[in-house]
Amino acid sequence: MAHIADRMGDSAFGRLLRYHDEIESTNIEAKSIADAGAPEGTVVIAECQTAGRGRLGRRWVSPAGKGLLFSVLLRPSLPMGEAHLLTLVAATAAAQAIETQTGVSPDIKWPNDLFIGDKKVGGILTEVAGEQDEVDWVIVGIGLNVNTEYSELPVALRRTATSLKMVTGEPVDRSDLLAAILLSLEAHYRQAATDGFDETLSAFRARDYLLRRSVSVETREGPVVGKASGIDERGALLVELPHRQMRRFHSGDVSLHD
Ligand code: BTN
Repeated sequence: MAHIADRMGDSAFGRLLRYHDEIESTNIEAKSIADAGAPEGTVVIAECQTAGRGRLGRRWVSPAGKGLLFSVLLRPSLPMGEAHLLTLVAATAAAQAIETQTGVSPDIKWPNDLFIGDKKVGGILTEVAGEQDEVDWVIVGIGLNVNTEYSELPVALRRTATSLKMVTGEPVDRSDLLAAILLSLEAHYRQAATDGFDETLSAFRARDYLLRRSVSVETREGPVVGKASGIDERGALLVELPHRQMRRFHSGDVSLHD
């Protein structure tokens, strides 16, 4: 995997690749090199993380050498209020690349989870620094269960998680998949920079795992229950409440509500 840069052609993403056998978290390392001035497109990748991080303070656990664990440093010209859209960009890019490489078409559970059927196969943790009117850097951290076996999943996750190999029955070449994700991410990112996010959001909507399902969104005032009704033009989740009232969520923890 350390030789991935050779496969990246003219693209900027992945040209600078920092490979680690073991690291605390690729996001933590990427933030530190971002603060030290590393250029856009630098990728930090690891075979194993000792403190892999997920959204909302959760952990990301993956056996060594079986998944893809990497973080991409971006320096977009965006106000802080739009940086969250890059999570949707990364989820869409990763889902499309997985489909091209494996034939399996993941859905996206807003805003950042990749699902195959009703099981999670990957997740994205986006972290941002900068001023309100201009982002300094964005770290897009992507974790995917690629060749993980059922018995290697943490026991607590075996009912809710899967891997690409568990779904296809075949091992997946992680270098090919990484190269495909980086190329797809760069293409979506450049397009968003020139034309805005509309096209990526359309592609996201075509994979919307939550659409028309009954959901519960955790908020400071407690759970809000309603019907997921798509994603608006700013990437917010739309939830229809009783009496057809529509509410928008720009962030939050969403679960299916039985
Ligand atoms: C989530 O599902 O909540 C997001 C998981 C993101 C995990 C990836 S693994 C690579 C990168 N480094 C981290 O510490 N986290 C992200």
